Parts: sequence; C-alpha cells; structure tokens
Amino acid sequence: MCGIIGYIGDKKASDILISGLSHLEYRGYDSSGVALMHSNNIDVYKAQGKLINLIEVLKTKQEICEKSNIGIGHIRWATHGLPTTTNAHPHTCNCKSLTLVHNGIIENYQELKEELIKTGCIFQSQTDTEVAAHLIAYEYGKTNNLLKAMQNAVKKIKGAFAFCAIHKNEPNKIVVAKRNAPLIIGVGENENFVASDIPAIIEYTKKAIYLSDYQVGVVQKNNIEIYDDLGNLIPNKVEYLPFEAVAISKMGYKHFMLKEIHEQSDVVRNVLSGKLISPLENIKLDECKLSQEKIKNITRVQIIACGTSLHAGMVGKYIIEKFAQIPVDVEPSSEYIYRDTIADENTLVIGISQSGETADTITAIKQVKEQNSHIAIITNRTDSTMARLADSLLPISAGIEVSVAATKSYMAQLISLYLLAIYLMENKNIQAHKEEVINLKQELIQLPNKLESLLENTDDIRRIAKKYSSYKDFIFIARGINFPSALEGALKLKEISYINATGYGAGELKHGPIAMLDENMPVLAILNTGIVYDKVLSNCEEARARQAKLIGVTNYIAPKDKDLFDDLIMIPSVSDLMSPAMNIVVLQLLAYYIAEYLGKDVDQPRNLAKSVTVE
Ligand code: G6P
Repeated sequence: MCGIIGYIGDKKASDILISGLSHLEYRGYDSSGVALMHSNNIDVYKAQGKLINLIEVLKTKQEICEKSNIGIGHIRWATHGLPTTTNAHPHTCNCKSLTLVHNGIIENYQELKEELIKTGCIFQSQTDTEVAAHLIAYEYGKTNNLLKAMQNAVKKIKGAFAFCAIHKNEPNKIVVAKRNAPLIIGVGENENFVASDIPAIIEYTKKAIYLSDYQVGVVQKNNIEIYDDLGNLIPNKVEYLPFEAVAISKMGYKHFMLKEIHEQSDVVRNVLSGKLISPLENIKLDECKLSQEKIKNITRVQIIACGTSLHAGMVGKYIIEKFAQIPVDVEPSSEYIYRDTIADENTLVIGISQSGETADTITAIKQVKEQNSHIAIITNRTDSTMARLADSLLPISAGIEVSVAATKSYMAQLISLYLLAIYLMENKNIQAHKEEVINLKQELIQLPNKLESLLENTDDIRRIAKKYSSYKDFIFIARGINFPSALEGALKLKEISYINATGYGAGELKHGPIAMLDENMPVLAILNTGIVYDKVLSNCEEARARQAKLIGVTNYIAPKDKDLFDDLIMIPSVSDLMSPAMNIVVLQLLAYYIAEYLGKDVDQPRNLAKSVTVE
C-alpha cells in the first residue's frame, strides 16, 4: 500500500525515482510525487492520478532534474484525505527545510497535530503524513541533526510507518525509519537506494539491507549506518535479493495479468519440484518443521488469509479435512482478530499471503502466535514480515506477480495446500483414500501439461467474454471443492471489470439470490464430474427456468444436457479434486478478456492495491 523510493548517488535522481515508482505502481496509484535535492535546495513536484501525470510535470522541470542526484519519491493509495495533489507525498514542514514520504498509518496523528498546531505549525493537507513532517522538523529544531530528530520523533508516533526523509541542511543523506511497514536499503557502488519493495531497485542492485522495526538508518552515497531502537550503531546485514529484473517485464504480453495467467503451468512445476517425485513416493516437505509426533497431535487447523489467498485457503479446507482428517476453519484475517479465538499448541495455523505484508493477516498471526500454535506461512515473499513470523515457511516460488489481480500466486497457493494436505496425511499414516491420493499425485504431475493445453486455445473464452461484456451483473455458482472457485472467479471479474459479480454455493441460489434472476443476469456454473455434478445441473435448471443466460464451465456434459446452456467452456479431463486448478484459469481468462474488451486498466484496477498494509 503506497510505494517509496529514494536515491543518493551520481546519477540523475529523477530518472531513478520515476523508474522505481513505475515498478511500485501496483501498490497504489492515485497520486505521486518526488522531492529533488540540489545545492541545498529541495524542490517538490506532485501530481494527482497516475504516474504519467507526474512524468509530464517533470518534463517541464528538466533544468532542476539535471542538477539533482538525491531525491525521494512516493506513489499513493489514499487512506487519510482525498487523492489530490495537496495530499500527495512528499510532505514538507512549514519552512520547507525537511521533506518526507511515508507508508502506513499514524494512529495518533490527531493528537500530535493538535500539539504541533500549538507550536505554530500550519497544515496544508488532510494527511496523517504531514504530521510526521512537522514533528521531525520540530525535533530537528531542538537537535540540528536529522538522525536524532527522526529517532526522537518515531518514539512519539503510534501506528505503522516507513519514513524516508531529507533535510536541506544535511544535503548528503537520506534518513529512514520503519515500524510494521516494509523498507529496504539497496546497496550499490557509489550510490545507494531506499525502497518499500524490491521491484523498485532490482534493475540497479541485487544487494540490500532489510530494515527491521524500530531501526533508523542513515543512507549516504558511500555509507549506510543502521541504529537500533536504543540508538546504538549496529553492523549492516547485506542480503541478496531473490528476483531477476526480467521478472518485471511484460515479455510481449499486453498486460502483466495475461502474462501471469500464462505462467501458471511453470508455476505448478516449480511448486512441485523436489517435493512430489512420483505418485508412489511420499511428499517431501522439508520446509514443514512439525515433527511426526506433533503432526499426529494436531487437533485442528486454522487458515487465516484475505482476498484471493482466502479462497485458496477454502480449497485447502476440503483437501486437508478429506486427506489429513483434521477439522479446518478458514477465516478472513480481518474477522479473526476481533474475537476471542481458540487455539493451542495442538493447533496448526496456516497464514496464506501472496505479499506476506497484508496487515490484517500479520496482526492475526501475531495474535495467535501468543497461544503457542505452530505457524505455517504460505507466501510468495520469503523476505516478508509474515515469513519472519513463521515456524514453518512454505514458499510458493511463483515469481514476482505485478498485476494487482492475483492469478499465478493463487495457483501456487493451491498446489502448496495440496502438498501440505497429503504430507500431513502421510505423516499421520492414514490409510483411507490411499489410492485416491496416488491418483491425485499423478494428476498433480500432469497438471502443467493440461494447463498448457487449456491455455493454447482461448478463442472460445474470448468469444464468450465479448458476448457477455455488456452485462452489468453476474452470478457464479458451484458446489463442493469448486465453491471457492465460484467466489474467486466472481472476485476476479469484479476487481478488473467493475461488473457486479457474486459467487454462491449453487445450493444457496434458491435461498434468496434466485430472486435476482432474469434475462439480464447471466449465471456461470462450474460443474465437474463428481459427487455434486447432478446437483449443480439441477441448480442450472432452476436458473434457466428464470430466463437467466447460462454459461457452463465443465470437463464433461452429457449430450442431452448441452441445450440447457447458452455457452459452454470445456476444460481438459480432470478429477473433481484437481478441478479447482483448471477451472480457475478459465475464470481468470474470462475476467481478463471482459475487462480488456471494455478497455479497463487491467493491471491497475481502480481503488485496489496489491499489498494492503493497513488494517
Ligand atoms: C489485496 C489484493 C488481492 C489479495 C489480497 C490479499 O486486496 O488486491 O489480490 O488477494 O490483498 O493479499 P495477500 O498478499 O495477503 O495474498
């Protein structure tokens, strides 16, 4: 949520800031700004809307841009105050000496603001961030030292923050601080960087220092100093960044989302690699740190996640309950944190998060960690806050996902959950379903090829997308293990096309939603051969009887039932258990092509952000 970049070196700072912000646009994109330092002056330029607007502003300021080798930048996802130019970062103190950018939320900003107003501060914006700019400047007035001013100010601030500040009296440094919001310092040769996420700097350096909570850092061209919460200088721990610059290119696809959908067969191969060797061998999951005895003692599993990751968790419930025979609760993190949850040392808590930075999930995990439960984290970011809280860290290795709508990370989460469920079952030595598990493993091995064959010809999906793109509402239905697929398919459509789409368990249709059905409300039904096939078919009949247009997504349809549907999308033959991984690709593509046909901003849908670091 929001993106930060900072640069200090010999190069043209504005170019590096803009390039960095362009790679952070997925974190928010309602306004942006930069502050450029040049010969003891700081110039601030901001623009409302997409980054392109800021680029246009900077084109008219090339003289300043040429002179500046130090700067900070920000791309915003509004929390406090409208997405206007005034509310965009960077924010400055009244005498314009200090400028800063901020990610996170300052919880006690009202209180601090009132105190600062008493000292004579005049506020320009409605943001919580401006409070920090005035507060650090106020502390600077007492110390004449930006490091000390930052250290003193953060002690007074409650909430989450990553700060990046410059002061015109100390023109050779950027001072940074963080608490519960990510911040890294990229280490270069005669230059250094600051960023809220790796993509912003990966094309310049593969080395970085991860700032920890309560630390404050001073970043200079040839020197980086990190101070702990007591103000002691501590040794720099430089780590290698896990991504390649090529991962953030579209590689010829029109949108990142389409590229990421097409990467899913390789993603499955990656997740399975080294873990599923053959159908007759047990799953190898060295990342799971639970002993066999501990596994046998697990009495319940709690899955905590948000958004798309939550839907992956819902599929996980089906397979863990079936194979590992342990009761599973799945709950949105944002709900989990506001009740007295029951967990103990025999509870396995699985946190699922693509980014590893979702604030609600982090809070939930921290909360349950106090109850001594074993915490397994399924994430795409082994460098994230959540990864650091894990007892068992299960990386999904999907590669960086740029498009805001999650696709390949969902696939990787699903496959990780299948592996975990089978691993738990094998370690509990459960014999029931053994044959079914051998078949499932076989199917997992075959899945990448089947996905490739599905992705080879998407003409039908494109055609159907175009046909239905003018509808304003959709209902997605399914039962059993595909119920979460219906929720996820509807979410994808909503996220990127802004069409009102709702997912229901097909059996629930008649308990209310059926009242909505008429010829203007298409129903998309997922029906795979298996125990719920006939039931979903009956629910389709109910919809048809109300004149709803019907789209079927299926691996099989009896000739006699074909006419029930206006359109059918066939997927390669697959078992009911494996089908969520196939069906979801159809639904991702359908949402993609509808949004693309409508000319929507597919990779950066309005109001959303890829990493939601506020509760
Ligand atoms: C945001 C994103 C969603 C994502 C959700 C959870 O809302 O737009 O795509 O599913 O956060 O994110 P996480 O990183 O925890 O999976």
